[in-house]
Amino acid sequence: MTPWTDVAAEADLFEGAGIAVTPEGQDIALFKLENGSVYAINNLCTHGNAKLCDGFVEGHHVECPFHQALFDLRDGSVGCGPATEPAKSWPVKIEGGRVYLDLNL
Ligand code: FES
Repeated sequence: MTPWTDVAAEADLFEGAGIAVTPEGQDIALFKLENGSVYAINNLCTHGNAKLCDGFVEGHHVECPFHQALFDLRDGSVGCGPATEPAKSWPVKIEGGRVYLDLNL
């Protein structure tokens, strides 16, 4: 059985912005960078009740809309506080115009 779950159309993504998807009850934010790369990290900020899909994307970071913590979209690591815990990152695959996540990791 394939581990990949279809979560969105690639056309739903816009460069430099995030969208929320909720496959299998998970709350995940998808981001497309200006270079076209697509990444997925948990949507909930690890510092508080903020949605990272609403954050400002700069380079390969997203800035939390509440207290401006920076998360690296490539692996969920914290680039700048006040958050200290990384956001879980999810493997992404683009195929046939669809965005797939591996939710088993
Ligand atoms: Fe995200 Fe505070 S809720 S930095």
